[in-house]
Amino acid sequence: MNNNWQHGFYRRSVADRQAIVSEQRRLSPAQQQLMKEHATPLGNQLVENYLTDYRLPEGVTVGLLVNGRHYTVPMVVEEPSVIAAASNGAQRVARSGGFDAVTAPRLMIGQVIIKDVTDFADLQQWVKTHHDTILATANAAHPSMQKRGGGAVGLRLRQEPPFVSLDLEIDVQEAMGANCVNTMAEAVADLVRQQGWHVTAAILSNLATESVQEVTAHVALADLGGHGFSGKEAASGIADLSALAQVDPYRAATHNKGIMNGIDAVMIAAGNDWRAIESGAHAYAARDGQYRGLSTWQIQDAELIGHLALPLPTGVVGGSIGLNPQTRLNYQISGIQTARQLAQVAASVGLAQNLAALRALATNGIQAGHMKLQYRSLALSVGATAQEAPLVARQLAKAKHADKALAKDILLKLRKD
Ligand code: MEV
Repeated sequence: MNNNWQHGFYRRSVADRQAIVSEQRRLSPAQQQLMKEHATPLGNQLVENYLTDYRLPEGVTVGLLVNGRHYTVPMVVEEPSVIAAASNGAQRVARSGGFDAVTAPRLMIGQVIIKDVTDFADLQQWVKTHHDTILATANAAHPSMQKRGGGAVGLRLRQEPPFVSLDLEIDVQEAMGANCVNTMAEAVADLVRQQGWHVTAAILSNLATESVQEVTAHVALADLGGHGFSGKEAASGIADLSALAQVDPYRAATHNKGIMNGIDAVMIAAGNDWRAIESGAHAYAARDGQYRGLSTWQIQDAELIGHLALPLPTGVVGGSIGLNPQTRLNYQISGIQTARQLAQVAASVGLAQNLAALRALATNGIQAGHMKLQYRSLALSVGATAQEAPLVARQLAKAKHADKALAKDILLKLRKD
């Protein structure tokens, strides 16, 4: 295939790019129409080689009670069971008094990575005597942050031979702050270079250990039963799964995936960089050298107590947040106004999600609840309309083996009748 069309693709208009891709990939008229209908001027501002907006479903978790306040939380996710599970967990915790989320510290870390430091004591001494100059250099590179009450506030040196990391601690106020941190780190890198040291790179760290959000939930044992299990039996299964996630990385990865199902969906709806949150979460889960579950659940007297801690360097300004009307709509729905509040709510949704998943695993298994929602997706995948999908799903649920072929048969029969 001739690839000349790729040359300068990024300089072309959106309409030209759509036309080229349509021709090159032989898109049907319906596909071309879809691409055109979903294109937005904002999307073209945000990414290079823009074609169209890709859509994901958005729903809300209802009944989330955090620090005595009720939240309706927008979540964007394609997996059918995620919002249902979050709402289920949230309402169960709300009945026992809700989530307690701490007021977490909120500092970002910028790394200036120095290589081949022959005399570490010399570097240490320079950093000590120039502590204020280094911070002033960082702050001068992004002065608006200090004007807003934040800025570079601390320094530390870490040895990772053959490297040394000069870590800047930066208060980014209500922003996610990536640009600010990177600008400051690069300015300090120049200063370090001027002293004759070799700087390998200057960049923020997504292992945001100075922005760790903790949240706790107390659930009455009596409220955990169902599906033929007593509350105590369900709680004991949940505590076992929690213990397993502390020792078995295979289970810990899935345990944490369940938590991130909720947190990612909240982050996407809030216009935050969820890849940053994901990478920080998993690095934090392995902080003592073994990958472990981010949450724990223990029985104490008549309660099951859950605890979750993970870095949540969230932001409510900056990036695409102010530009995207849908993101602004989501803040209006949730009522979230500060980055701290967003971290507290996201961590609570993560713990709610985790509770619902573990309770299902400890009782009648995950598939029973999952499949109800999967049947609807299966019905839609074979062309059922929104009206037809629940009817097809209901019949699929009764079948021994529900697959696409059966879904098609049911749909055809339904249409005939
Ligand atoms: C599925 O998306 C998430 C779960 O696998 C989480 C878990 O196993 O804890 C249900």
